Amino acid sequence: MPMTFDEKTRSTSNFFNNKGRCTDDCLIIIFGGSGDLAKRKLFPALGNLLFKKMLPEKFKIIAVGRKPMENKDLLSMGKYTEDFIGHFEYLQTDYSPEGIAKLKAAAEKICKESGIAPNYLFYLAIPPEGYAEVAKALKKGGMVHPPKAANWCRLVVEKPYGKDIESATELNENLLSCFVEKQIYRIDHYLGKEAVQNLLVFRFANSVFEAIWNHHYIEHVQISHSEILGAEDRADYFDQAGLLRDMIQNHLMQIFSLVTMEPPVSLSADAIRDEKVKVLRSLRPLDLATQPPVAIRGQYGPGAIKDKAVGGYRQEKGIRPDSSTETFVAIRMNIDNFRWAGVPFYLRSGKRLGRKGTEVVVTFKKLPKLLFNSRGASLNNNRIVFKIQPQEAILLELTTKNPGQSFELSDTSMNFCYSDHFDTSADAYERLLLDAVLGDPTLFVRSDETELSWKYLDPLLKNWAANAMGDKFPNYAAGSEGPAEAAGVLTPGEEPVEWLDFAKYDNICAPIEPGNPSTPSPKA
Ligand code: BG6
Repeated sequence: MPMTFDEKTRSTSNFFNNKGRCTDDCLIIIFGGSGDLAKRKLFPALGNLLFKKMLPEKFKIIAVGRKPMENKDLLSMGKYTEDFIGHFEYLQTDYSPEGIAKLKAAAEKICKESGIAPNYLFYLAIPPEGYAEVAKALKKGGMVHPPKAANWCRLVVEKPYGKDIESATELNENLLSCFVEKQIYRIDHYLGKEAVQNLLVFRFANSVFEAIWNHHYIEHVQISHSEILGAEDRADYFDQAGLLRDMIQNHLMQIFSLVTMEPPVSLSADAIRDEKVKVLRSLRPLDLATQPPVAIRGQYGPGAIKDKAVGGYRQEKGIRPDSSTETFVAIRMNIDNFRWAGVPFYLRSGKRLGRKGTEVVVTFKKLPKLLFNSRGASLNNNRIVFKIQPQEAILLELTTKNPGQSFELSDTSMNFCYSDHFDTSADAYERLLLDAVLGDPTLFVRSDETELSWKYLDPLLKNWAANAMGDKFPNYAAGSEGPAEAAGVLTPGEEPVEWLDFAKYDNICAPIEPGNPSTPSPKA
């Protein structure tokens, strides 16, 4: 019988023992243990990993928070087995020296009583203002094992990772004064998405595309993220951050790096991250004086989503009534290196749009106007569409001949839908949490990556902060495709360029439910 993916992984990986669990015992210590992220994402992901027997044989989760809490409230957003509850504990404490001493004593007691080796995975699911404080408190409190110690410790940090280049650099310095780089795992949950990881496989495991992955053949690339949700209950954070920081600096620039990086020398974490860094270093600095503009911003006003009237951003709870915070960004990026010289990359992301979807579309140059396109007809560009979510797919748009006597042509598409081949997809948090437990930093962001992307966006952030939009906002209606100004960042080549109609790709494939990452059993 063929081995499942799971069995293969376990039999070839050093990380798993023969019972199929990660080998190292550990304590998973979640700061912000009573918060939304922990309840909504982290506990359910850990619950699923335990259910799939992917966590170590001996481990405990300590959720740390300042408030008194009951398990029934902490575990209200998932289904948990008795086994999970037996591995779960809430500790009410703070980050003062006494608070950390209490945590240390609790951790040591649990390790002793349960025979768990004191490997610590610290997860900071707290507001970012607290990151440096907690890291320093852990270091001072003697909970940070030196990198070469017999037991390991790792620090997982959520975004936002700084709010500009200065704060990101300062945060890196603070964390690096307590932990070494290889102990720090900066999460970008987009890297946990299956279809994002597949960009690497698509590019570097298929010989047909790598040869044409350059400015000789590619006209331009669009990376688009559209969501229906607005600021929701995160007004405090979002109204300060804005969309450029919330989505472009991290998630979309990560996708961008994977699409544009050179082949790494190996699949090691640093080899991959070195190449991502190299491409970020080759970015042409944003010239804010150039025309057409390199970037535009938008904010939603009242509109309708699925025929239901909804208010505008400035009317949402907790948002300043004159807020100039952007909820939409479109930006043009250029890479000044041999592979990508002259190829524009257009990134856009917006909240409260008419649809949810994340796509990367690589548009190839047209053939010379000779044969089929010489008689008034114009051939369309070939395109490769990577659908990242909610459906996961790769589509290749081609021109084909219509059956019949004459050479009539049609646009057609070869579609690879994950749902036709696999039953399940891995949940991003499950994948990333397990990688952190295993000690594989490949899908986490290195300090130089975050600093380079902040540095790149810095002039724009400063310019926008200095120039409030006032009456120019709102400039798009909730439920629409975003502001008309978004077309302004597109630079016409030989022919006009438009934002693609991404909605047309929505129903080509069925979405697949996040499920067991270990059993993507190919369908017969
Ligand atoms: C988060 C942002 O990082 O990503 C949110 O803070 C955004 O504002 C979310 O909604 C989008 O993630 P996904 O996986 O739903 O595309």
